[in-house]
Amino acid sequence: MLLQHEALKSLFEDRLVLAPVTLNQNDKVLEIGAGPGFWLMDLAASVDPSVPMVGVDIEPRLFPASPPKNIEFQVASVTNLPSEWTDTFSFVHQRLLIWALQVPQWPQAIQEIFRVLRPGGWVQLAESAPWREGEYADKPYTAKMIAIYRGVVKARNLHADCADDIPKMLEEAGFVDIQSESQMQVIGKWGGEIGEAFATNQREAVRGMMAPVLEAGGFGHVTSEAEDYSAMENPHAERQAVLLERILKNASKCTETITELNNCIEQIIRENAQIQTAANLATKYRRNVQYNLEATKTDDTTAEQS
Ligand SMILES: C[S@@+](CC[C@H](N)C(=O)[O-])C[C@H]1O[C@@H](n2cnc3c(N)ncnc32)[C@H](O)[C@@H]1O
Repeated sequence: MLLQHEALKSLFEDRLVLAPVTLNQNDKVLEIGAGPGFWLMDLAASVDPSVPMVGVDIEPRLFPASPPKNIEFQVASVTNLPSEWTDTFSFVHQRLLIWALQVPQWPQAIQEIFRVLRPGGWVQLAESAPWREGEYADKPYTAKMIAIYRGVVKARNLHADCADDIPKMLEEAGFVDIQSESQMQVIGKWGGEIGEAFATNQREAVRGMMAPVLEAGGFGHVTSEAEDYSAMENPHAERQAVLLERILKNASKCTETITELNNCIEQIIRENAQIQTAANLATKYRRNVQYNLEATKTDDTTAEQS
């Protein structure tokens, strides 16, 4: 998770706060779904230490054991934040809840964030862009991963396209001055250090999905937990897989053609066998005729002499 935090931070030029906010001691910051609080603690290290900060999560196990004095962690759900928090925070951050919130929970969460923000406050929501099925026909591994991911999303009623819908949901909740920023990242060793970090993260995410995927029957793509993740290490894996498939198809076409050729040769040999018999008969007949002619000739000679 730290790797993921560092990779995301570096993807956005090390900016933790993308909203036009300068935090001072009159502000109060809330992070939702804080987990181990990497973002919050990183932010705390870069602003006035008197800015109070709160991190919430439904799962307290990852909360840091001894956070800085100005950060407090507590258990709460974004869909039901403490009622006394109305108009409390000047900045709210929430990142990567795509795997946690179901479709109807998104507007509910955004409404809660609107409630706990002071008038003029800012919210910063960060989610990964959706992977769309059908866009990766020439990339079999990516297509398979997306199909599995979409299967899980559907089975759990998650909002795979939340990144696309967030601006509209914010507007419907009453937010104004909505801005968005996005970055593309190549995943894998060939995407540099960040690409490698995202690949590690992606592998873990896919591994984490395996149990529910298998439970749901594999969505026609997975039959065992022993999946092969080596494609994420090899920049040419997908191209190689496509070429290999083509080679196998051509090899089986070659086998078909050779089998057909063998059948034709066998048939020619069979037909030739009959021709051979006819030729043998013709030769025998010719020899008989020859013999009889020779015999007649001998008889004629004998008669003349006598
Ligand atoms: C993928 S982690 C992201 C952690 C952190 N935001 C980050 O970017 O490093 C998602 C976190 O959201 C938490 N979460 C899930 N549902 C939640 C909810 N309804 N309210 C608050 N937190 C929630 C999970 O427990 C988990 O810690």
